[in-house]
Amino acid sequence: MIDKKTIPFGSHNATLICDNVLTTTELVEGSVDLIVTSPPYNVDIQYNSNQDDLNYSEYLEFSLKWMTRCYSWLKEDGRFCLNVPLDKNKGGQQSVGADITYLAKQIGFKYHSTVIWNEGNISRRTAWGSWLSASAPFVIAPVELILILYKKDWKKTSGSKESDITRQEFMDWTNGLWTFNGESKKRIGHPAPFPVELPMRCVKLFSYVGDTILDPFAGSGTTLIAASRQKRNAIGIEVDKTYFQLAHQRILNTPEIFQTIMPMLEEESSEANCEPTYS
Ligand SMILES: C[S@@+](CC[C@H](N)C(=O)[O-])C[C@H]1O[C@@H](n2cnc3c(N)ncnc32)[C@H](O)[C@@H]1O
Repeated sequence: MIDKKTIPFGSHNATLICDNVLTTTELVEGSVDLIVTSPPYNVDIQYNSNQDDLNYSEYLEFSLKWMTRCYSWLKEDGRFCLNVPLDKNKGGQQSVGADITYLAKQIGFKYHSTVIWNEGNISRRTAWGSWLSASAPFVIAPVELILILYKKDWKKTSGSKESDITRQEFMDWTNGLWTFNGESKKRIGHPAPFPVELPMRCVKLFSYVGDTILDPFAGSGTTLIAASRQKRNAIGIEVDKTYFQLAHQRILNTPEIFQTIMPMLEEESSEANCEPTYS
């Protein structure tokens, strides 16, 4: 059953929808400025309710379907930051990043560039293949990709025109090699969270204050936290009820969001009651 929770922060809000990205009717076409997401990687992660071990052609078919929906939800100058693996070794080598980029272009997305996220995950260096032999060694890059795509026009014409990125952030993040650590599954309580740094950089670099940011695979709500903190409207879709509730709790428990918005709420409110309300 569809469940929906909206957390208002004065002039913007965060909305979580417990639904399937392939079938949801909760989103309006042409309404989203920026999508930041990390879909299931199809590497047999034990999510509560969805299968993460499709065969590769089924996985590409699933990717085609959900990306087609994202395309329709974006505004004409909308952007799409898609965090995917560079490649996949488990269950047979595949060029995931290249194949997903190709599919996105088939749908109509235009390619802008790719950020290489160096997540410093050395724990992957356990599968060597043929040790010290050229017979069948494994080569694995400890990086992921953030594909930067857009719908029709790269130049952004809609929105408030208010950017909140600093000079140093702009200089650092327009260098497409990003180095920061991954997030702890245990700390977050989700099997595949990304760190808030990832959506935060995308949000500040590619959207204006007040824009609408969507994560169609919201998981533990990391994108919604980053977007809310930066005073954007956030929408998240998550099929699993447990993660949906986890995301809701995480947003409510992130003090930085409320610290950022409190002065704004005080300015806006002519009455004494400045407390945010939750539904
Ligand atoms: C890689 S995780 C996203 C993690 C998120 N970036 C975070 O930081 O927590 C993918 C999420 O997509 C959800 N999911 C899988 N299939 C889905 C579908 N068809 N519709 C909506 N959500 C889905 C999974 O339950 C999982 O939480």
